[in-house]
Order: sequence, then C-alpha cells, then structure tokens
Amino acid sequence: MNSLLIELNHHIGKKVAKKAGLSYKKIIQKSFPDKESYVRFPFEVKNKKIFILADLAKNPNEILFTLLLMSKTLKRLKAKKIYLIAPYMAYLRQDEAFYKNEAISGVIVTEFLSDLFDGVIVIDPHLHRVKSIKGFFKCKTKQLSAANEIAKKLEKKDVVLVGPDSESKQWVETIAKKINKKFVIASKIRYSSRRVNVNIKKGVVNLKSKDVVIIDDIASTGHTIIEAAKVLKKQKVKSIECYCVHGLFMKDALKKLNKMGIKTIASNTIKNPVERIDISGEIVKGVKEWL
Ligand code: R5P
Repeated sequence: MNSLLIELNHHIGKKVAKKAGLSYKKIIQKSFPDKESYVRFPFEVKNKKIFILADLAKNPNEILFTLLLMSKTLKRLKAKKIYLIAPYMAYLRQDEAFYKNEAISGVIVTEFLSDLFDGVIVIDPHLHRVKSIKGFFKCKTKQLSAANEIAKKLEKKDVVLVGPDSESKQWVETIAKKINKKFVIASKIRYSSRRVNVNIKKGVVNLKSKDVVIIDDIASTGHTIIEAAKVLKKQKVKSIECYCVHGLFMKDALKKLNKMGIKTIASNTIKNPVERIDISGEIVKGVKEWL
C-alpha cells in the first residue's frame, strides 16, 4: 500500500485506517532514562503518503517534540507527503497576548507544525479571534466538524440547546439550524482556570421545565458547564445534558458533572470515558481528499 496511517497515542487509528483503505502502522518509540526521546519506523516509508494520527490532548509538549522527530526523519527517508491528523488541536485558545509580553502559543505551535507537515486535519478547532484554521497554519488544512454527528443524536429529542459562552455560538447555532431547535447563548467571564462566571439572559428562550442540552467544543475542568448548569437550574429547567466535542475532562471534572446530575457525552477526538460521538467518518472524508 502506498498510503500509511501511523497512530501516535491515539485510539481510533485502526478504525480510520480500515475505513480509508490505509495500512495501519505503529512506530517504535521510547524514552531514555534522562527523558530524551527515541523514534524508529520499522517499515518502509520511501515514496509513501504518511498520515500521522496524534492525540495532542495528553502531554501535548512531548507529542509535539515526537512529531518533530517523526517529520524530520520521514523527510530524510523521502516519504512522498506527510500529513498530520490532530482531531484535537491543542494550544489554539492562546490566540493572542492577553497580558504584556506573553507568548502567543497558538501562533507559535501552528507555525511549528506548518513547517513539519504538508497538511493538517483538525476537528472543530477552537476558533475565537482568529476566525479560520487557515489563519493559523501556513500548510494545507482541513477543518472538519462533529456537528453532523451531534445533530443526528439530538434531532429526535425535544430539547433546547444552550451555548455556555460566545465562542460556542459557532457550534450551537449550526447544530440548532440543522435540526430546527431553539437555542440560547450565555455570556461567560473567566477569572482563572477553575473560576468562571456564566450568565444566561432570562426570557430570550423559555427554559422553564425544558430538557436542555449544553453544547461546547471543549470540556476541560468542567467549570464552564458546571456554572452554566447552576444558572439553568435557577431558571428551573427539567433536565440538563451536555454534549462536547473534545472531552479533556481534567482531574475529577466528570465526577463533578455527574454529581450535579448532568449527563455528559463527548466525541472520540480524545480518549475519554463518555465517548459516544464517533468522528472517524469525518476524518476519513478528509483523508480521502488527500489520497
Ligand atoms: C473556551 O472558551 C472553550 O470553549 C471551553 O468553554 C473551555 O475550554 C472549557 O473549559 P473548562 O471546562 O475548564 O471550563
């Protein structure tokens, strides 16, 4: 086969490779006692198109360094094309300097990857001030979405959709329009990683006694969802579910959400205990266009 999929810390590689007709491969990777990294390709890569499916949610810095070793080696070994599939693209939330002299890591990391790859495939990148993934990367990009899969899961339910902050509008509005649901977008102020304040204007959409679904791109500490849920409870909703694309669920986030009675589900862009939304089909669509 002339096109290979190499899985780096991800868990849906075999499924994607099978559906896209790629040969599935793993590399030899280890750390020396002093934490230096080692990488070897125990298969032929010359003249092959290589797709690397990487999970950038866990240990992103280590994975970024491994990607550097992989790409430089693949170029030396004359691979035909090298593509990165990063279903969850890390670092995009730092898309400007919020404080004086801060590193704008979203720009730095995407420039770094642009030099290493011929193209990058991303699912629902966190876009805020930079409006398109093309605004971040200098190489080719494919921006795909879990919106269709989420819409399919919700279309038969009698629910009102809630976006917990202004950025979430891009997903919530798209999904709501696809399946003809009412939606409301909250406003959020974040003071620190775990301290956020969410406000939902009363009366925009009647939420009392309704089953509501919070939709967000990322659930990390879970505090955005938790604060949104507190406000929704005050507005006397009947039930609260949460659908998020990228379930990072740091520390005890899922436990806290469960404790509040919020049924949470996420996609499989990142390995997590509540992955019920399969985005492998979306990735395959993107891969096939570059075969
Ligand atoms: C930020 O704007 C994102 O869309 C999410 O709302 C945020 O990353 C969620 O983080 P956390 O779960 O830590 O509140």
